[in-house]
Amino acid sequence: MIEAIVAPSTHVTEEDGLFYIAMSIGADEVCTACYMLDKARRVVIIQLDTPVEHRGNGYATALLESIQRRERTGPIRVISTSHAVGFYRKLGYTEVSPYIFESRQFSS
Ligand SMILES: CC(C)(COP(=O)(O)OP(=O)(O)OC[C@H]1O[C@@H](n2cnc3c(N)ncnc32)[C@H](O)[C@@H]1OP(=O)(O)O)[C@@H](O)C(=O)NCCC(=O)NCCS
Repeated sequence: MIEAIVAPSTHVTEEDGLFYIAMSIGADEVCTACYMLDKARRVVIIQLDTPVEHRGNGYATALLESIQRRERTGPIRVISTSHAVGFYRKLGYTEVSPYIFESRQFSS
């Protein structure tokens, strides 16, 4: 049987200044994030999570890019966990203070 290839879709909700974004493939949520906009309207990622069974497929990278495209606010900041520092370094983010990372300027 040939399985249909379903492209990921994203869905955003906002409540009291916090934005919740979920990336899904069919009925499966493959990555979620929560972010806010600071006084300068820069994105600050508070939480980013890929369920264990979906890790290593590029979903967190794609979700961060989707947030950057959606908000168009230049570099974004993230509050990392100790687990994720290697992930942000791999993406080329700069550690501006312990566990706080900043992306490069969004260029397209
Ligand atoms: C960190 C996390 C979000 C990464 O999710 P993911 O969907 O697996 O990430 P991606 O598939 O987009 O990974 C992109 C690259 O980073 C690497 N990578 C992923 N997690 C990594 C980690 N914790 N340390 C080092 N490298 C990591 C991947 O191997 C991949 O490398 P490749 O391009 O050579 O294949 C996920 O591990 C997670 O949910 N962790 C628990 C929650 C957490 O700590 N969140 C961050 C706090 S905001």
